[in-house]
Amino acid sequence: MLPILHALQGRFGLIGEEAVRLISAELNLSRAEVYGVVSFYHDFRKEPHGRHVLKVCRAEACQSMGSDAIADSLERALGIKFGETSADGQVTLEAVYCLGLCAVAPSAMLDGRLIGRLSEAKVALLAEEIRL
Ligand code: FES
Repeated sequence: MLPILHALQGRFGLIGEEAVRLISAELNLSRAEVYGVVSFYHDFRKEPHGRHVLKVCRAEACQSMGSDAIADSLERALGIKFGETSADGQVTLEAVYCLGLCAVAPSAMLDGRLIGRLSEAKVALLAEEIRL
């Protein structure tokens, strides 16, 4: 099921109700079973995301290096909370739990580009880049 979900999200940008219905019918599964998989993995979206997607690591190594304060700064700079998309559709802010960059924590990923040693200075630069 995961390759199907990835392919659909890659094509349409989200896994909507119609996709869940079709997958359940084709794989002879209940809609609840399909929906359970979609909701288990944070990368699958039920809503469209913004033009930019900023993922910030909230796991332990990054927390120990100050990611909570950085996350608060990002929410203020972007004017949205984690899990939200800005009203202009410019950015979606998401929490992730380890990007494999613990050695350069705190870490984030903007549109697939990894960012290590996230700092207050980098927060300002990221917010500026996202607004462009
Ligand atoms: S805990 Fe943040 S990158 Fe691993």
